[in-house]
Amino acid sequence: MDSPKTTIGIRGVVLLCIAVVIFSELLGLPLLRRSIRPAPPPSNFAPVSGVPSLVAWNEATIILSATGNPIRGEFISRRCELCHGVEGFSSRASTPNLAGIDARYLWKQLQDFRSGKRKSEVMQRIAGPLTPRDAADVAAYFAMLPNAPDAQFSPSFPQTLPDHSAIEIAQRLLAVGDPNRGIPPCQACHGPLGYVRPAPSLASQNYDYVLSQLNDFARGARSNDIDLPMRTIAAELLPSERQAVAEFYGADLARFPVGYTSQ
Ligand code: HEC
Ligand code: HEC
Repeated sequence: MDSPKTTIGIRGVVLLCIAVVIFSELLGLPLLRRSIRPAPPPSNFAPVSGVPSLVAWNEATIILSATGNPIRGEFISRRCELCHGVEGFSSRASTPNLAGIDARYLWKQLQDFRSGKRKSEVMQRIAGPLTPRDAADVAAYFAMLPNAPDAQFSPSFPQTLPDHSAIEIAQRLLAVGDPNRGIPPCQACHGPLGYVRPAPSLASQNYDYVLSQLNDFARGARSNDIDLPMRTIAAELLPSERQAVAEFYGADLARFPVGYTSQ
């Protein structure tokens, strides 16, 4: 015996289910979409895929990167001279000086260019054919060069002195950072006081290059810093502060710890 009540009851249940689903969707409750909703982006820095670097610091990589052969490296460096200079001081201020920079840092950068974890049209092409051993050798050569500029070999370094207020801003950031914004002193990792490897020395680095790297870290365009120290710090710095520290390094004012006097 089919009673109209039962038919209406089944339809009613079906309609009720549909209504609940539509209602939950309207309210944004994820009844149906939980499994198909795309995962949220991994971090604030878009678009970063996976790990910052394929380099893992372990016994093998530390030994390889720190024991290159500088004599063989000098031959390889002929391919670099045009841009990075004969004595590791670049011909243009937008190209980094490599003289006296820690070999492990240089080696890691060459691996990051090779793997595409650090983007640079020119350097990805140049680092591509270098084997890890070639990279260690050429890094050992540049690391050995004196980082004090010699007018004959450093056509674009040092750059002009910043004004007084820029010097004050830079000195504060280098020596104490800004505890209120969680910015540690640059000197703690980049020397010459502390030296957290593989953070590079910035003491003889070009203004234009330092500024462009800080801007790139701040917007995530450079994202090969393991554990994000530089993306975090650069994003906290005001544009005027990035400019001030770049000018300070570019003018060769960071050779000695801030506060150092020779008397
Ligand atoms: C045609 C010019 C050119 C040549 C040749 C060249 N480089 Fe570079 N190199 C650059 C530029 C420009 C950059 C900066 C890239 C950027 O903006 O990130 C750079 C960056 C680098 C860096 C990163 C430095 C840092 O402080 O992070 C390393 C290491 C490096 N080059 C090594 C080499 C080596 C080794 C060779 C030779 C085998 C070489 N380069 C040849 C132009 C060149
Ligand atoms: C906690 C350690 C730490 C502190 C503090 C720090 N840095 Fe760095 N910085 C690094 C590391 C590590 C790298 C190298 C990242 C990589 O592997 O490419 C780096 C790279 C850089 C570079 C790129 C250098 C090059 O040759 O390409 C610049 C410029 C720089 N830092 C500026 C600064 C400034 C300015 C400050 C202070 C406001 C600062 N850093 C504070 C760890 C630090």
